[in-house]
Amino acid sequence: MPGLILQHPIRTLDRQLLFPQRTLLTKEILDALIDSHRTYSYPASSLLLYGSVKQDCSNFLSTPPFVTIFSDRKEINDLLSLLETVQYPVPILQSLDYFKEHDFYTYAHVLMVFALSTFLAKDLLPDHRERIRLSATGPTHDSGKVSLPLHILKKTTPLTRTERGLLEHHTAAGYVLLGYYYKDTQHLACKVALDHHERGDRSGYPRGLLLEDPMVEIIAACDVYDALIMPRPYRSGAYDNRTALEEMTEMAKQNKIGWDIVKALIAHNRKSNPHYKEITISAEKRGTPPSYNVYGIIAEEPDSDDRVT
Ligand SMILES: [Fe+2]
Ligand SMILES: [Fe+2]
Repeated sequence: MPGLILQHPIRTLDRQLLFPQRTLLTKEILDALIDSHRTYSYPASSLLLYGSVKQDCSNFLSTPPFVTIFSDRKEINDLLSLLETVQYPVPILQSLDYFKEHDFYTYAHVLMVFALSTFLAKDLLPDHRERIRLSATGPTHDSGKVSLPLHILKKTTPLTRTERGLLEHHTAAGYVLLGYYYKDTQHLACKVALDHHERGDRSGYPRGLLLEDPMVEIIAACDVYDALIMPRPYRSGAYDNRTALEEMTEMAKQNKIGWDIVKALIAHNRKSNPHYKEITISAEKRGTPPSYNVYGIIAEEPDSDDRVT
């Protein structure tokens, strides 16, 4: 149970208010929300048979930077076709349409986190059913962003503390929205949505908890990696792959994410494709981060006078 006080309201994609600001999330109110529409049945669809998702995924994976990791197309196609059997309530998939139309960064991001985590889970999770269960959470890990104003997601200059709080709200919003549509807040997708920004040194959000669930950790690491190697509104460009992997290595050194996932990423970026347990990581840093990057920089709040005018 989260025990979180909501800093902002939670709304569905069609603007239905599920919880107002300052709601304390308890098991009782979450159960009551789910019970209120338990008899309602949502149509379901496979992710990969929904709209142009499969074609878009295939296009992203065939172009740099992903084509280096996903060089074995047959293996990828086999993995993805396994997931055609995984069904989602359609309102969850509609968030992908929304992102595709209004925030293409997020659309490409959730699909690539899905592809990366599906791929790396093959190394890191021995149980086949667990891998499928994890893969199904990649496309929905940022579903809570439908509850945020688009200008926050697209801002190119530093966020204020208030805006940063709003951005971080996507974790709790995702937890509630996915619990609402799955009618089960124990669903792994809810845990992933809530905890994928937590870190192994407790420096993450929303609760500053220890990131220790290996399933969530895979999504968390793929989330960071994709955010580095793809363009973002708040930077002048993407990290090149070498620099991104150096950033990931630095995070492992600081105990923010685990070594196995970083080694698996590095292994798949090497031409010889060694097993991740057999690789050694160079201590030498040779990469160059993008010149303009305001991620993590907090801007002054505007004066109240400015807000009025
Ligand atoms: Fe996120
Ligand atoms: Fe994400």
